[in-house]
Amino acid sequence: MPHRPTPHRVRLRTVLALATAGVIGAGAAVFFNGSASAGTTLGASAAEKGRYFGAAVAAGKLSNSTYTGILDREFNMITPENEMKWDATEPSQGQFRYTSADQIVAHAQAHGQRMRGHALTWHQQQPGWAQSMSGTALRNAMINHITNVAGHYKGKIYAWDVVNEAFADGGSGGRRDSNLQRTGNDWIEVAFRTARAADPGAKLCYNDYNTDGINAKSTGIYNMVRDFKSRGVPIDCVGFQSHLGGLPPSDYQANLQRFADLGVDVQITELDISGSNQANAYAAVVKACLAVSRCTGITVWGIRDSDSWRTGENPLLFDGNGNKKAAYTSTLNALNGPGSTVSTPPVSSPPVSSSPSNPGGSGCTAVVTLNQWDGGFVANIRVTAGSAALNGWTVTVTLASGATITNAWSADRSGGSGTVRFTNVAYNGQVGAGQSTEFGFQATGSGAGLSPTCAGR
Ligand code: G3I
Repeated sequence: MPHRPTPHRVRLRTVLALATAGVIGAGAAVFFNGSASAGTTLGASAAEKGRYFGAAVAAGKLSNSTYTGILDREFNMITPENEMKWDATEPSQGQFRYTSADQIVAHAQAHGQRMRGHALTWHQQQPGWAQSMSGTALRNAMINHITNVAGHYKGKIYAWDVVNEAFADGGSGGRRDSNLQRTGNDWIEVAFRTARAADPGAKLCYNDYNTDGINAKSTGIYNMVRDFKSRGVPIDCVGFQSHLGGLPPSDYQANLQRFADLGVDVQITELDISGSNQANAYAAVVKACLAVSRCTGITVWGIRDSDSWRTGENPLLFDGNGNKKAAYTSTLNALNGPGSTVSTPPVSSPPVSSSPSNPGGSGCTAVVTLNQWDGGFVANIRVTAGSAALNGWTVTVTLASGATITNAWSADRSGGSGTVRFTNVAYNGQVGAGQSTEFGFQATGSGAGLSPTCAGR
């Protein structure tokens, strides 16, 4: 008999983005108006638009200096290509192995890059012991897996692919058959609720392929997300893998926008493009993302063509020697072109306060995103450097009366109620010009009126 989901309270997702002034004048113009300056790397240019540019990374290649040279120069988000999958992290039931994935996380932390976790559940790359399981035993194993892996990386992951590729190809718009699906149709929402409990600060995504245009498969997913949002199942984002063979479909941007309109972030999660029109196709994908204010970032699925899973198709931005291709240039130019900055309008109507000034603070902004429910909230705060690099930062927030912080991550903290100061930890104090880092905290009480100020050093 399938496991029943634990009862849950309805989650009131209040998304509130408040940009506060740590940057005055010209610095603020860089953050809010991407056309004010042109970045010279993918990561810096994306950051000027309030977005990230990431790459899938293999732990085994971190000892290659050509590989890491490009990675650390160009990319500010990392997805482990295989190291966080179920077969890698739980090779025997209940025995967790994090060595390779930890290596990637340590690299990211040392280089100011954020992490997308991939993937907590998937019908592929399950360990043999899970492949042969079914029913309640498999459901419980899945819950235990998510609890352990998301718990191990709590506070270190920007977004998790909680469920990967659960919808069928073709015209049905329905779920893919798999051992997980056969545990009951509610397995996806159970996975999301379990992930939220294990790491309340991570954004939780559904990720899939062949969903790049408006088609039966993407519409099936759209209907699921709409249902989740209406019932308070915690979902924050949808990933569009975008393994393409040329230009994206003509309704690519419209498809991203219809998901964003449901109240989730959208991200391009595994981009690679084959074919002779590659440079134009990359530019078209970037432009579509920039045109959707909730499209928060783009990840390419590998660095050099020789790193790609699509052997012989040369679908990436760097050739086998690590040289920039024409597709790199068109991608960078598109990132430096016109586009909206990321803004997340409040779902309910809390007052969005005007930006307080930040006398004495040099060159940073702090933007808070709230996940709020009855009696508590999680705040994720993104610190973005202005036109000069930071050598450390302090963010000050004043909590509403009665609110108390229960835990915080990726920052040192003084105080737990009233006015609280957060200072960078060792690995995230140095933030390049236009680059960002994130920290967060969980608290009881109300998150109303949070208005962080940032001071840089
Ligand atoms: O590490 C072993 C090696 O020791 C062994 O000798 C070799 C022999 O087959 O296999 C190696 O493992 C391979 C692994 O990649 C690392 O290279 C696996 O066989 C191979 O199956 C695995 O492929 C990965 C694939 O997912 C698995 O389905 C690809 O690297 C990875 O790029 C790909 O990524 C997926 C995303 O997770 C989800 N979306 C689609 C995307 C592309 O398929």
